[in-house]
This record gives sequence, C-alpha cells and structure tokens, in this order.
Amino acid sequence: MCGIIGITSSKPVSLAIINSLRKLEYRGYDSAGIATLSNGAINEVKSEGRVDNLEKNSAIKSMMGVVGIGHVRWATHGVPNAINAHPHSSENVSIVHNGIIENSTILKKYLIGKGHIFKSQTDTEVIVHLITEHLKENDLKNSIIKVLKQLQGSFALGIIFKDQPDLIVGARRGSPLAVGYGPNENYLGSDSYALKSMTNKISYLNDGEFCILKKDQVKFFDEDGLKVNKKVLELSTDEQNYEKGDFKHFMAKEIEEQPTTLKNCIKEYVDTINNDINIYNFPWDLKEISSVTLIGCGTAYHSCLMAKYWFEELTKLDVTIDIASEFRYRNNRFKKNNLYIFVSQSGETADTYAALDLCNKNGMKTCSVVNVIESSIARDSNFVLPIHCGPEIGVASTKAFLGQMLVLYILVLKLGILRKDLDKDLYLSKIKDLKILPRLVEETLLTERKIQAISSTFTDAKGSMFLGRGYSYPIALEGALKLKELAYVHAEGYPAGEMKHGPLALIEDGMPVVVLAPRDNYYPKTISNMQEVIARGAKVLLITNKSKDEVVSENIWETIEVENTNDDLLPFLLTIPLQKLAYYSALKKGYDIDKPRNLAKSVTVE
Ligand code: F6R
Repeated sequence: MCGIIGITSSKPVSLAIINSLRKLEYRGYDSAGIATLSNGAINEVKSEGRVDNLEKNSAIKSMMGVVGIGHVRWATHGVPNAINAHPHSSENVSIVHNGIIENSTILKKYLIGKGHIFKSQTDTEVIVHLITEHLKENDLKNSIIKVLKQLQGSFALGIIFKDQPDLIVGARRGSPLAVGYGPNENYLGSDSYALKSMTNKISYLNDGEFCILKKDQVKFFDEDGLKVNKKVLELSTDEQNYEKGDFKHFMAKEIEEQPTTLKNCIKEYVDTINNDINIYNFPWDLKEISSVTLIGCGTAYHSCLMAKYWFEELTKLDVTIDIASEFRYRNNRFKKNNLYIFVSQSGETADTYAALDLCNKNGMKTCSVVNVIESSIARDSNFVLPIHCGPEIGVASTKAFLGQMLVLYILVLKLGILRKDLDKDLYLSKIKDLKILPRLVEETLLTERKIQAISSTFTDAKGSMFLGRGYSYPIALEGALKLKELAYVHAEGYPAGEMKHGPLALIEDGMPVVVLAPRDNYYPKTISNMQEVIARGAKVLLITNKSKDEVVSENIWETIEVENTNDDLLPFLLTIPLQKLAYYSALKKGYDIDKPRNLAKSVTVE
C-alpha cells in the first residue's frame, strides 16, 4: 500500500508535505518520512509509527527545501522501523515508493557487485541505486526510461535529484498516481484526496507513464519517453466529508451516516415518482448477457456474495463470484456472454484492478461498482456504477458495504425487469420497499445501547462465531471480519448449516456466538442450528427482525431485533448491529478504531 506525496514550489514544502501525509495515513501508518533538497544536498527525516511522530522529530523544523517528497508506509519488505521507512536515498537521488519490486533480489545482487552499499531491508532501495548507476552514463530522462524498464512488479514513485534543485519525477505501473496543479507550485500524490487541500485541478498517470514536475511546468511521457497530453480534471470540493465532526471516530460517523448515504444513492438510481430504476445506456446488448461474475476482496467480496443470492432469486442469469486474488491467477474460461462486475470502495485495490485488467485484455464486458469515481478501476471499466456514499476514511468498511449492496441490488432489479425475468408487480413492490430502507436503517441504529452493553463479552472472548443461512450468510462473514479487524478477536463466519461438519468442535462453554436468524425462508433451519450450539454451551446473541411472533427457543443469551422489511432487504438491517458490535468491542480495548493494526485502507499491493 503506502502513500506518496511530492511538492515542487518556491516556498518551503516540509509542512505541506506533513499535512498531506496525514491524509494519506489511511494507506499505511507504520512509519513515515520526508526528504527535501536544500543547499545542494538531500535532507532526509524518518520516524517509526504515525505521522505525528515524524512531526515531533526536531529535525523537521529545520528542513528548508522548496522541493520535497514524503511517504507513509505499510511494510512489505523489511520490518517497520525508521531505517526501512521511506524516502530511501543515495548521495544523488531520493525516492518514495508505493508497490513491490518483484525482481529486487536479482537487482540488488547486481548493484552490490557494482559497489553499491544498501542500508535497508526494503525492495525500494534497489531503485535508488539503479538510478544512481544509470545517471553515470545517461541524462535524467534516459536514466528513468531505462530504470523503469528494468523493474518488475508494481510501483508509484516520487524521485528527487541532488543536481536538479527544482524538479520531481513521478512514475506509475500498477499503483495509482495523481498530479496536481497549483499557483506557482505542482504536486504529486497517491490520490486526489491528499492534494485536495492544495488544488482541485488534477491529472492521473496511466500505467507505464512517467512525469517531470517543476513548479511552473508539468510534462508527461509514455514508457519510451514520448510526450503524452493529459486532460486536467476539476474535482468537486466536499471538504466537510473529510472531517469527523462531533464523532469520536470516522467509523462511528460513517455508521451513523448510512441512512443519508443510502438515501443519496437511491436518489441517484431510483425514479421515485414512476417507481423505476434509472440505469440506462448499458454499453452492451443485454440480450448477449447470460451470466455474471462478481469479483472483489474482503468486504467488497462479501457484497459480491450477497449479490449472488439476489441474482439467483430475481433473475435467470447464471452467477459466479470470485476473490480477486484467486481469479487473477486461475485458468479462467473467458466467456463473451458473461458480464464481469468488479466491486471496490477505493477502486484501487491491486488484485481487483489486475482481475479487471485481465478481463479487459481478453475483450470481456466489464462493469465496476466503486465509491471513488476517479479511481483506476472506475476509469478502466466499460461501465461504472458509483455507490455515492462520500469518502470513507475509517479503515474498516461500513457505509461502503451498504452502498455496494444497494447498487448491486438495484442492478439486479434492473436486469431482472429488462430481461423479463422479474414480474412487473414484484419489481414495483421491491422498489417501494427500497424507498423506505434508509428510514429502517435509521431506526435499526437505535439498537446501539443494547449492543454497547453486550460488546464486553466479545471484547474478552478468546474466539467467536457468526452464523447465518441464505441471505444472512454473507452478513455473518462480514460481521466476523469486522470483529477480527477492529477488536483483534478471532471470529469465524460460517453458514449455520455447515457447523455440524467440523466447526461445532470449537464450541465450548461461554463462547459468544452471533446467530443471524431473520424470519425468512431459512428461519426454522437456522433456529435449529442455533439450538445445536446452545446445547454445547455457546452464549448466543440472536439477531432477528421484529415480529408479532415470539422466538420459540430457550437459553438464548441476548436477542436484538432489527426493523422489518422484505427478505431481500433484511441483510442491510442485520449489518447495523454487527458494525456496532465490532466498534464497541474495539473501543472497550482502547484500540485505534480508524486505523487497526497491520492494515491500510487502500490495498495497492497484491
Ligand atoms: C474490511 C475492508 C477490506 C476492503 C478490501 C477491499 O473492512 O475494508 O476488506 O473491503 O480491502 O477494498 P476495496 O473495496 O477498496 O477494493
């Protein structure tokens, strides 16, 4: 992952770099560093841990350069410490890198043979020495072209040179990179968010391109050094979405925002007067589509799994789903009549992007469901369906999960009606139900107090299980993932009916188990599975929906009731208490909720 920033200006840049690094911390936060050019030398300051530590480093105050680069790291090669933190520098060159250099071992051997001395355990340091080596015989531009061709793997780079006091080079393959244009200064950044406080005028590098930035000039080149013309895009200014407001954490804010984000998304896609769905201009003839493959990672994969159930229930399309890191290396049978749907909040996840790229290269029909509409996945798919939920800053995905499910559900309904798989009256009634979903989510958020009280049982547990059947199974997986990543409690999501095939052996006295059993077609079966775990000592938290009928089962530890709606939409409501459960379990332990250990928001390495 990692985040990079570069600024070339006529005034000192170190403070502005630190401010941008704070915005990039969602990409990695195990160490941070900055390098500037001043008095004909490269000055480097690096610290282990957060950007706050870097800012406290007394050496920062005396950094006077008007050209500089900065980095926040998510370690791949080498432990997270100040030595392995970026930038990495030789006497002549300093580099920040996001990505992985796959042939670094071979290159390192070659460079050591040439007399280069390595200080860190990182793959990145080979780039520094490789450029230094090429600069002995080539000018700057040709050195860059040659080095980029030697590197295997993925990278976004920011590079400064001792002998070029006004210049930064940026280069991209795989990992994203944006250029921003300011008044008498220009910027390089991993994303537009990092640059937003300085400019709203942005261009993006495509794969294989590099750029040379001066304070008053930006030039783009392809991998052979031929000039490339770029469009300058103007970004909207929605700064307030990047603030926590009165909330203690972004995650808390993002959970509470969900009624609004769902409402906004429904407004974009649903014609509430005519009860129809506004998705037009598909770039393919729908008659040519007979099957769908949904691809994503983590939480986004869970929304793919959810969509599989809806597609199968409401259309006659064949559906497969895949985890992007598996799909990209399998021997796939690409089918012309298959629609490939890529789901990603950030739109930059390396595995999901690689899977999309593979489909594009095989001439497949590609569609993406993304939050960040300027992202690589959005830009490179044939058709984009944004989830319209605004920036998600907390590392754990919450409002984006609901947004992804909502857009996928809307797409299922639209394809169902266009293909005549779905009866018109059923279609209309589903849209009517959809319109009141935000209110039901708002009411379900009121389960908070009870969840807060229950959460300490999970905080103190050795392990836990989340069980569900049918539509509730993807939500069980998502609930378990949230608890793992935030409260660092082992949690397994399982199809309730699968417990007796092995995992039941894990159940012991007092183990907290969440059972998702809304009153849908699966209800009696799930209740039986719940009794099986209770009989073996589990402390069951039952999450169901409100009903006039009481739950007929004994020895349930706690019950939470979400609002009532049709079976398709219950997964949205069941998700809410699980988000809160993970939040409060982590809060009780005092963990860093918005930046859980070992993780990053945008996973741009494979
Ligand atoms: C979990 C979480 C991750 C992401 C995954 C994919 O809370 O946030 O599992 O869902 O890394 O990220 P995107 O959606 O950006 O492709």
